[in-house]
Amino acid sequence: MNRIVYVNGKYLPENEAKVSIFDRGFLFADGVYEVTSVLDGKLIDFPSHQRRLARSLNEVGMVAPCTDNELLDIHRELVTRNSLHEGMIYLQVTRGEADRDFLFPENAKPTIVLFTQAKNLTNSPKIKSGYKVITVPDLRWKRRDIKTVQLLYPSMAKMEATRAGADDAWLVEDGFITEGTSNNAYIVQASGNIITRNLSNDILHGITRATLLQFAAEEGVTVEQRPFTLDEALGAEEAFITAASLFVAPVIEIDGKPVGNGKPGPIVSRLRKIYLEKSMEAAM
Ligand code: PDD
Repeated sequence: MNRIVYVNGKYLPENEAKVSIFDRGFLFADGVYEVTSVLDGKLIDFPSHQRRLARSLNEVGMVAPCTDNELLDIHRELVTRNSLHEGMIYLQVTRGEADRDFLFPENAKPTIVLFTQAKNLTNSPKIKSGYKVITVPDLRWKRRDIKTVQLLYPSMAKMEATRAGADDAWLVEDGFITEGTSNNAYIVQASGNIITRNLSNDILHGITRATLLQFAAEEGVTVEQRPFTLDEALGAEEAFITAASLFVAPVIEIDGKPVGNGKPGPIVSRLRKIYLEKSMEAAM
């Protein structure tokens, strides 16, 4: 691969881009990130990703490395320079470079890195076959609402899922599903009602989730925002996940047991279609 990436004000070939070994992102996972999808060369849900980035930075007491307009320009420039038609833009901001110390440095300059990842998002085979998930305890920290780069536990959970022959894991806390390792989790009841966990510090406030819930309301679909149990999920008609990297995707199996008839269902497929159509209209 020979991408052009963005590091601290410069567009560089990926093999020339460097970050210090003293960067706090490297030493303390002291950084936040966003993943924005690109369809047809356009950014999906960009203003919402920008707002969540500002919130994450604020929650950890970091300053924004650039203005909103500059951030949009960098995203667009990377799409152009890499001829990105479909895929994602990864953005990471860390507190910057300082000698190792648990205390935040006073005057460190934030590090900002962005790169593109080309990926077929609209026609991935998993959308047709559906995802198999296992459940694992949610052992993450208690500020999951902040999109920090400390993703070791989600990585470990995904590895465990892979070893078990599944695609991903749903995280369980106090008997309730919180969310997927890198996505929000939903079930569809026989009534057609959708249940997804309410927003709190227990889950990431997904951008795809917020947009999908708005579209669902416009379509008259009832959504209950409350915690749900594994038993409720196993008794559901359909289940699904949302994230910028997969939009809306069916879950067909949980812990080796089929959800509904064990095939991607009609409601998930309709919601995916609505999400893609409406968000493409608003893409920028
Ligand atoms: N993950 N929950 C968690 C824990 C996540 O990491 C993500 C996103 C989501 C969905 O959020 P959004 O709809 O804003 O993408 C929910 C990204 C895609 C990632 O880490 O690659």
